[in-house]
Amino acid sequence: MKAALLGHGTIGVGVDRIAAALPEIDIVRVLALETDDEILGRHTYDADDILNDPEIDTVIEVMGGIHPAWEFLSRAMEAGKNVVTANKAVVAAYYRELVALSLEKKVAFRCTAAVGGGIPWLVNLSREKQGDCITKIGGIMNGTTNYILSKMDHEGADFSEALKEAQRLGYAEKDPSADIDGDDVRRKLAISASIAFDGFADENDVPTAGIRSCLSEDLSFAHERHSVLKLAAFASRKELGISAFVSPVLVPESSLLSSVPGNLNLVTLTAEHAGELSFAGQGAGRFPTAKNVILDLLDIEAGNGAFYAPETQPLAIKNDSELLPWYFRTESPEGIPEDVVEAREGRRLITKPISVFQAFSLLENIQKSDSAAFMAGILS
Ligand SMILES: NC(=O)c1ccc[n+]([C@@H]2O[C@H](COP(=O)([O-])OP(=O)(O)OC[C@H]3O[C@@H](n4cnc5c(N)ncnc54)[C@H](OP(=O)(O)O)[C@@H]3O)[C@@H](O)[C@H]2O)c1
Repeated sequence: MKAALLGHGTIGVGVDRIAAALPEIDIVRVLALETDDEILGRHTYDADDILNDPEIDTVIEVMGGIHPAWEFLSRAMEAGKNVVTANKAVVAAYYRELVALSLEKKVAFRCTAAVGGGIPWLVNLSREKQGDCITKIGGIMNGTTNYILSKMDHEGADFSEALKEAQRLGYAEKDPSADIDGDDVRRKLAISASIAFDGFADENDVPTAGIRSCLSEDLSFAHERHSVLKLAAFASRKELGISAFVSPVLVPESSLLSSVPGNLNLVTLTAEHAGELSFAGQGAGRFPTAKNVILDLLDIEAGNGAFYAPETQPLAIKNDSELLPWYFRTESPEGIPEDVVEAREGRRLITKPISVFQAFSLLENIQKSDSAAFMAGILS
């Protein structure tokens, strides 16, 4: 395989270094904004040098962002090149177009590293679909927020201390918004749901709550209920469409989700025949993520192209039949009608089982007067 890298940052360097030891993968060109010794003789500032080169059969996009990543990926496929990307933002935004182009041009499109970093999640999700019906997917899909919540929980750190430490360790970016507000997880859930349920789950339709306003009293509340607080994402098949949401949740101390430490991820699928299958490991990081990119390349080399179903009809996301009790902490409890309240204690309350849709509507309502309000679903 004659491949080219678009981007030579954390993941690009990892891919380049692992590939150097593999005779199957020859990385002949590298697009980067700066040059260095490692890419001397292969470096270019101009994407056209790669996209117009008929010798290059596979393009690996690890630049991040939606533009120009989409333009480069689509041009590569138009030119008959296979593409592999670790970029969840561009895949969530252009999933339908990428699948359609890969079918039309008969080229491979793979993005295993885009969800779960180093965990072989998407590739197994797609494999498990065969001869079975996936009914539910979900779990902890962001290592940064799991690290922050674990540090607050185990060491009594407050949110800003835990975030600073995550940034010092390189887990969180300088602008941590995409992680702590749940946008990163939302994209990963949308891509996973599109593959699991054979359609297109639009990330913009997935209600999302993050952990930005999480306080230590929220973690104490979880402990009082023999639970642990996690940021999680779930999607399940419904009669018409799917349910999908991203939210902090209280999970029982005895559950698998509660035991996921530090910056690890754990994702689970439930299928009619296979039952529950969980995958855990490094959800990010140079070499774990690069390894998943490499496995995609080796699969392509072995003749296994795209693993996505050709069906990309929009999936209706409806959260009115998924019922849970919810925990709220708010200075505006009057925004929560008495008939849904199960128990109150100061500014903290638990609702009766209500739909995910209703919980997010209540949060939106109370956030108008209390922007620091916090909500978490209570799982049993
Ligand atoms: N890091 C992880 O653990 C991880 C895990 C899973 C998935 N991913 C995904 O992998 C992708 C890459 O992440 P990363 O952590 O490697 O990011 P990164 O360290 O910022 O690397 C991206 C590189 O691409 C370069 N770049 C950006 N736009 C470019 C352009 N138009 N032309 C040429 N080079 C360009 C950047 O240059 P400058 O720095 O000069 O802008 C940077 O060197 C992202 O989509 C990310 O979501 C990352």
